[in-house]
Amino acid sequence: MVTSLYMDPRTNPYAPGAGTIPPELAGRDEIIEKAAIALDRCRNGLASRGLFLVGLRGVGKTVLLTRISQNAEANGFVVVSIETPEKRSLPALLIPTLRTALLKLDRVAAVGDLGKRALRVLGGFVGAMKLKYQDIEFGVDLGNEPGIADSGDLEHDLVALFTEVGRAAKERKTALILFIDEIQYIKEDQFAALIMALHKCTQNQLPITLVGAGLPQLVGLAGRAKSYAERLFEYPEIGPLSESAAREALEAPALRLSIKYEKCCTHSSNID
Ligand SMILES: Nc1ncnc2c1ncn2[C@@H]1O[C@H](COP(=O)(O)OP(=O)(O)OP(=O)(O)O)[C@@H](O)[C@H]1O
Ligand SMILES: [Mg+2]
Repeated sequence: MVTSLYMDPRTNPYAPGAGTIPPELAGRDEIIEKAAIALDRCRNGLASRGLFLVGLRGVGKTVLLTRISQNAEANGFVVVSIETPEKRSLPALLIPTLRTALLKLDRVAAVGDLGKRALRVLGGFVGAMKLKYQDIEFGVDLGNEPGIADSGDLEHDLVALFTEVGRAAKERKTALILFIDEIQYIKEDQFAALIMALHKCTQNQLPITLVGAGLPQLVGLAGRAKSYAERLFEYPEIGPLSESAAREALEAPALRLSIKYEKCCTHSSNID
């Protein structure tokens, strides 16, 4: 066992930084499993609730959301990830990533053509939303399905769009999972439309759900946007790591380099 006071900057395994996946995602196994169960239930058409990971700045929401989405993708879910909703409208963020997801879905070998239809419905949605939200820069012509998701009313159109997407996902025996970080920044009317669309999918047992993350005010915002949000989602609280998890987060990456922390006698430290 090598003991060293200094880390070689070339091999230093630690990766501090907002949203940077740590070398050891410690202490979050329970919530990762909870999310996996919710997603599997959604895919199997069973009652499940979406998740909002709620916690203060810096506790590890983003990296946890990223890990859950990586696991979902590895397990065959169709993943749609949205970031920084404070800068743009929800449709502007949703359209390109949803198109990518639908193209992926369409490539999954299966009979039926609901994937192509969902892409056309998305095309109609783009046209309607472009008139309303000036920040939509989407230039690809996806065709359209006249009369579906093209009214210009976000709440109405998002329900229609998600319904088509849900049907396509169901046909492919998968589920579409939306991952949205910093969800508290979504404007209230757009948040309400999103919750409504997910609610309709739940009612119709269509496999679409949301895993979001945000600051504690998110709980109140969701309730204000739609009162039934309380029943539609769970709000697991993401707190600081326990002492043993914090220890593991530091010790495990070092141990992989055969470096071990030793008790320090000159300073009192959490890692003694
Ligand atoms: N479970 C964990 N184990 C080890 N390191 C972690 C863990 N969770 C978070 N970190 C580290 O803590 C830092 C902050 O994490 P993250 O950016 O995910 O927090 P956040 O809650 O999203 O913060 P903010 O609210 O500011 O966006 C990152 O460097 C990340 O690698
Ligand atoms: Mg974050």
